[in-house]
Formats: sequence, structure tokens, C-alpha cells
Amino acid sequence: MRPPTPGVSFEDVPEPSMVPGTVKVRILENGVCGTDREVSAGRLLTARPPPGKDWMILGHEALGQVEKVGEGTSGLEEGDLVMPINRRGCGQCMNCQMGRPDHCETGGFRENGITELDGFMSETLIEQPRYLVVVPKNLRDIAILAQPLSDLVKSVDEMLHVQGRLHFQCEDYTLNCRRALVTGTGPIGMLVSMLLRTYGMKVYAANRREPKEVEKRIFSEVGVQYYNSSSGYGELYKEAGGMDVIFDTTGKADVIHSLLPLLRNNSFLAFFGFSSEGMMNLTSLDVQRLIFKGVAMVGLANGQKPHFERALWHLASWKTVWPEAVKMLITREVRVQEFDEVKRVLERKEEGEIKVKLIWS
Ligand code: BGC
Ligand code: ZN
Ligand code: ZN
Repeated sequence: MRPPTPGVSFEDVPEPSMVPGTVKVRILENGVCGTDREVSAGRLLTARPPPGKDWMILGHEALGQVEKVGEGTSGLEEGDLVMPINRRGCGQCMNCQMGRPDHCETGGFRENGITELDGFMSETLIEQPRYLVVVPKNLRDIAILAQPLSDLVKSVDEMLHVQGRLHFQCEDYTLNCRRALVTGTGPIGMLVSMLLRTYGMKVYAANRREPKEVEKRIFSEVGVQYYNSSSGYGELYKEAGGMDVIFDTTGKADVIHSLLPLLRNNSFLAFFGFSSEGMMNLTSLDVQRLIFKGVAMVGLANGQKPHFERALWHLASWKTVWPEAVKMLITREVRVQEFDEVKRVLERKEEGEIKVKLIWS
């Protein structure tokens, strides 16, 4: 693609050469997410090709297999399944130097397939092992979910860290008495609901419509309560009371505004989704309420290597405890060679879609 020009094309591009310290990875599959759609529609403000080029390879969710191990590399073998991490440091700040560009201080970080670095929707990838996460072979079918899940593992870490400001545990030292509301039931809403359940919280997931069949089945296995928010959150408040955690995946300012009365004392409001629509009118009285309730509001994006690794362990445990739900998260596979179909997938989300995989074979 050629950001900010909308549209994508399928092209032969020169393969970067293997310099010492790199391995060559054959890409097996890519995942598609809302960000890819924003980038390919020319709507994402941070989408920019690498300096000196007017095009960029799209994609930041990938699973591949090591094909060739270059000189001066260690830790990887031919045949290993790997996933690349998708944000790289600015090279200047301490957080980036420590492997945490998700907290880059300068804002000079780059993201594959989004900001100034080629992405992963290509046949091969030349990469340094430090940017590759080894994937257990038994997770081959669902491993692609580890990229979006890594963003959420990092986010839930952050929530627990911030909530460490108070006594957040229940009487039995679990989180069973704590209530979380997730707004939006796309892939991120689904994954974070499952993750918050893994941590023992009581989870409500909301969307402004009746649940889809697949959502009903997933939520019933995982033990998440679905709420139709088409007429606001009043009924939920009556039924369940206020929330300790609200995790917004919609990014819609009007949705977020309608959530404010649900926030309990000492609650945590996570901004995860981003959108280009919507507006919120915050009164000074709203601000006063947020102050006296001690609400923490945190913007969250991007997981790094430790989060990818833990995401893979979560997926492995979910395969055991929620075997049906986990399988249902991948709703479709499209072969890359069927490029017209790939284009359609990148243009819009289909009815009932959770995660679409693009397959390279
Ligand atoms: C990716 C994140 C990234 C964010 C912002 C998401 O789609 O999964 O890792 O930081 O977009 O570009
Ligand atoms: Zn993404
Ligand atoms: Zn930095």
C-alpha cells in the first residue's frame, strides 16, 4: 500500500538481503485487524511508509517458520514456528532500550505495517531473533491470536499495576467479586473478556445489538454475561451495579461518555479502541465526579515480547478449559492468491466475523 493513499495491491517487491545476525522466515499466515483496515483505507494518522519509499508492506499479525538461520544468530533453528513482534524502539529512550517501546518516551518508535516499517504480509521476512517469539507447535492453529492478545496481556498487567494503589483483591484474595465491563465484541472485546475471566473477574460484554450466535456460544462457554446496550447502560447498572473496570474497545467518544455513571469508586477506565468518529461533552461536574471517585483513566496500546510469550501460554490453557470458544474465534481463512477476496476482507468486516486469517500456500 501507499499511505495515505487508500487501497492495496498485490506486487512483487525485492526481498531484503540476509545480513549477519538475521534469520529468514517463511510466512505461513497473517491475521487481519481493524488497524489494517484503517491503514488500507488511508484513515490512520500514524500510517507512513519507510523513509525514502512511497510504499509499505501491510500487516502486523503473522505466524511463520524459520527457513534459514544466518551467521551470528543463536536461539533459533530451521523449522521453528515464530511470530514477529510489531513495534520497534526509537533507539534513544530508556524504555525502548529495555525492550519496552510500548512506553516509548520520545514517540519516535516505529510499527511494522503501520509506521515507517514494512509489515508482515509478504512471503518471507528477514528478521533478528530478538524480534521473534518462538511458538509451541501445538498452538499452530490459533497462535495468530497471540499478537492481538499480547496487547491485552500488557493492558491487563497495566490495570493490575494501577489498581495496586488500593486493596483490589476480594475477601478470599481472588478477583471474583470485581466486576468488569467490556464494550465492543470484536476480536479485542472477545479476547479481553476471556483474559479478564482468566484473572477471575466477573465479566460483562456489551454491544448495541442482540448477540450473534457465535458470540452467544463463546460467552456461554467462557462465563461472560452479554448485555445489549442499544438503550444505554441503565438496565445493566440496575442489574449488576457499578463496575470496577471498564475496558472500551470501541473508541467512540459518545459510548465512553455514556459509561461514566457506571464507574465505581477507585475504578479503572481503559481506552483501547480507536475510532475516527464521535464526540464527548464532558462537563465540569463530570470532572468533579471522576475526581471524587478516584477514577484512573489509562490509554493502552501495544504488547511486547514478554506479553506475546504469555499470550501464547494463555491460548494454550484456553484450549484446555474453553476448547470450543477458542476454535470459534477464527471465523474465516482466505488464501492470499485469491487477491480480490483479500481486498474485500481489508475493505470491511463481514457479518459474524471475529478473526480472519490470510493463508500463504
Ligand atoms: C496493534 C498494536 C499497535 C496498535 C497501534 C494495533 O492494531 O495490535 O500492537 O500498537 O495497533 O498502532
Ligand atoms: Zn492489530
Ligand atoms: Zn523510545
